Amino acid sequence: MRLILVGPPGAGKGTQAVHLAAHYAIPHISTGDIFRANIKGGTELGKLAQSYTDKGELVPDSVTNEMVKDRLKQDDVKNGFLLDGYPRNTFQAEVLRAILAEKESPLDAVLELSLDDSVIVERLSGRRTCKDCQTSFHILFEKPAVDGKCDKCGGELYQRTDDSVEVIQNRLSVYAEQTKPIINFYREEGLLITIPAEGDVSEITDRAIGALSAAV
Ligand code: AP5
Ligand code: MG
Repeated sequence: MRLILVGPPGAGKGTQAVHLAAHYAIPHISTGDIFRANIKGGTELGKLAQSYTDKGELVPDSVTNEMVKDRLKQDDVKNGFLLDGYPRNTFQAEVLRAILAEKESPLDAVLELSLDDSVIVERLSGRRTCKDCQTSFHILFEKPAVDGKCDKCGGELYQRTDDSVEVIQNRLSVYAEQTKPIINFYREEGLLITIPAEGDVSEITDRAIGALSAAV
């Protein structure tokens, strides 16, 4: 399965990606997670990325496209992949199409998680993220078993710097202006599947798998 997850910030892409990647036994590739791992590691890529992620702006295409191109050369994508947070504008979508055409491995589906802006702000302002494995929790909706600790790896939970109310608003504008056009791009390619992203996490996972089984 070669799959893209698209949707506004806070729609639950990362949360659902973990379950879908396990279900289809494919790697979960999140450009946001790769940037944050580089920021944590203090690399040159991390320093550059942080100047954009802190403001909720997109990291330049030249950097992001090269990073994804390299990732898709690794062995573990042979049986498929789940891309989370990439592509994020039409140019990235065109570059991805060219990368996959060269490998003769086209996409199977693009799954859009749709959610109202009011729910998004509630989800993002209460999110806590694991410093080590980047799993998302929520102070009300997805509580960790032990306060401040990741259920999966025991890592410390923190609040992402881009989860402040002002930066969330900018991320929503960037999504509307730059990312939304890819929804039409993939609709025209006959790859788009849209599901509502409201309800329990497991309910949404079942909805996603049901919609994918019917379409692919
Ligand atoms: P990225 O990390 O991709 O952030 P994003 O798109 O803003 O999305 P989020 O990770 O915030 O939300 P999500 O949909 O994954 O939600 P989650 O599952 O955590 O990108 C960050 C930055 O990196 C960008 O701003 C940009 O600067 C840069 N970047 C990344 N990719 C790029 C690219 N391609 N090009 C250029 N720049 C790029 O869930 C959110 C919260 O809700 C959590 O607390 C969770 O526990 C909770 N939750 C989830 N599901 C439910 C549910 N069903 N019910 C209740 N709560 C729920
Ligand atoms: Mg995410």
